[in-house]
Amino acid sequence: MPEEKAEIGIGLIGSGFMGRCHANAFASVGGLFDLPARPVKAVLSDASERAAQDAAAALGFARGTANWRDLIADDAVDIVAITAPNIRHEPMALTAIAAGKTVYCEKPLSTTVASARTMTEAAEAAGVVTSVGFNFLRNPMVTLAREIIASGEIGEITGFRGRHAENYTADPDAPHSFRTDPQGGGALADIGSHIISMAMYMLGPLAEVSADCRTLYAERPVAAGASERRPVLVDDMTHALIRFESGVAGSLEANWAATGRTMDLSFEITGSKGAIAFSQESMNELRLCSGSGARAGFKRIEAGPSHPPYDRFCPAPGHHLGFNELKVIEVAQLIEAHVNGGACWPDFRAAYEFQRVVEAMQHSCSERRWITL
Ligand SMILES: NC(=O)c1ccc[n+]([C@@H]2O[C@H](COP(=O)([O-])OP(=O)(O)OC[C@H]3O[C@@H](n4cnc5c(N)ncnc54)[C@H](O)[C@@H]3O)[C@@H](O)[C@H]2O)c1
Repeated sequence: MPEEKAEIGIGLIGSGFMGRCHANAFASVGGLFDLPARPVKAVLSDASERAAQDAAAALGFARGTANWRDLIADDAVDIVAITAPNIRHEPMALTAIAAGKTVYCEKPLSTTVASARTMTEAAEAAGVVTSVGFNFLRNPMVTLAREIIASGEIGEITGFRGRHAENYTADPDAPHSFRTDPQGGGALADIGSHIISMAMYMLGPLAEVSADCRTLYAERPVAAGASERRPVLVDDMTHALIRFESGVAGSLEANWAATGRTMDLSFEITGSKGAIAFSQESMNELRLCSGSGARAGFKRIEAGPSHPPYDRFCPAPGHHLGFNELKVIEVAQLIEAHVNGGACWPDFRAAYEFQRVVEAMQHSCSERRWITL
């Protein structure tokens, strides 16, 4: 008889896009990874009683509640997963930290640096495990890119060009959502945080930024199809020049009105001997430029079982991982950290550092100058 594993109770707040993604990850991770404990879907909370009950039943949670404080207080909940809109993260996380629970929060950690710092300091003082949902960092091809840089294969790093471009506000009649609220943060905070996290994961801390944040359309419909419109007070696109502490210079763009782009979280990193290029739109490949003279050029490395943990999902190359698998990898690392202690990077501290960059870029734009971090 295989040994019975300890159970870890999951409390999930929110059942929208990310809530379903988290539920799927907690449901499947135990069968794919050799984990020290087994996650159990204990409690789900949503904004109304009906939504909570329906989502709990649909996603396989033991019970639903419209009261997220009740979820956090439940002894059956060990890990609190927060997938509510950005402005709600702080009170939920602080309550979970006070209860001594592990906190798994969606990105961006919060809506301001001050709030992110409060959350980080509370978590560190309480000694709880934290993790933030920068799932794109879990891609085996991104891990490979980092290994290539660290190995020196592309030589001294000479430049970084990064972008997170999607198209969901490209239509001037695309309605407001929590993302376009000032409290949601705008394109830079919402999706720019992903490319900032990627830049820092690849090349380390940033030292200085100079940014231009633009609002493309002054007003948007208050809801889909509504004739009433209200002002847009956040950026639709930000372009920034950046300098890393290492001295490497580069550029970075966050843009959610990028017509034709669906998920272009991409980067190109050049070195003295080669280069690497990646886009989440082709998330199962990394392009590596190597060679010299007539043989120099980019080749395509396709994801396969030799790029762990791809092998956990599939024994054959070319069959490809997807977005949801990145969440499964993230959750596997979270459960390891919950059971064995230790950091689950990017944790609240790392996400706070990403948020500092977001806010420095916003200041840079409003003050029209370079900002030192
Ligand atoms: N990591 C990623 O790739 C990624 C992708 C998309 C969104 N996100 C992040 O995930 C979070 C949620 O985004 P989403 O796209 O899932 O939004 P969504 O609107 O689809 O879902 C939000 C959910 O939170 C619920 N909610 C709102 N207020 C609540 C409350 N008081 N109590 C309980 N539930 C409440 C809503 O009813 C809904 O179920 C955001 O922070 C967003 O930035 C991350």
